[in-house]
Amino acid sequence: MGYTLEDFCRDTRSILEAGDDHEGRDGVRQKLEALLADPAFRAEYVGSDSPSGMRQIYEDPELGFCVLAYNMGAPRSSPPHDHGDSWAVYGQASGHTDMTLWSAADGCIEPIRSFRLDAGQAGLFDVREIHSIQYDEGARFVRVTGVDMNLVARRVWNPDTGEVREIESVGAGSSQTGR
Ligand SMILES: [Fe+2]
Repeated sequence: MGYTLEDFCRDTRSILEAGDDHEGRDGVRQKLEALLADPAFRAEYVGSDSPSGMRQIYEDPELGFCVLAYNMGAPRSSPPHDHGDSWAVYGQASGHTDMTLWSAADGCIEPIRSFRLDAGQAGLFDVREIHSIQYDEGARFVRVTGVDMNLVARRVWNPDTGEVREIESVGAGSSQTGR
């Protein structure tokens, strides 16, 4: 038997119910690596026949965590950003994503650490951890967030000027979307 999306969501639910903290979220990261190792999951959600763009493939009705599949055509670099009060786990299905962690203080933002997620690997960004991502053409990945990001205000930095702006949640009336 493989490890299905339903298995992952069930395990994530019990992990977060036991403790929605750094250790628990790292447990979710490990489960996402197990999910990405499953060929049937990859073929259905992040395979060559999967719809391009991003789509939500699960939202937990009680805890609110969300699972999204990204099948990206064009390469992209995101600016440094956080996910407000939500954590995020990114898991690479194919290609790779370069992740950078940043530290911001007094109108200044600096990179502190970079690492690459290769296919099969997942990385955790905890609540308010500032990060940027860069991926090549055709990258496919899965992102899990603690809540629906459309409902969370988040911050985005200009890495050149250190300027930060807050992006309101869609639920609060803004039409802007981000990552
Ligand atoms: Fe992010």
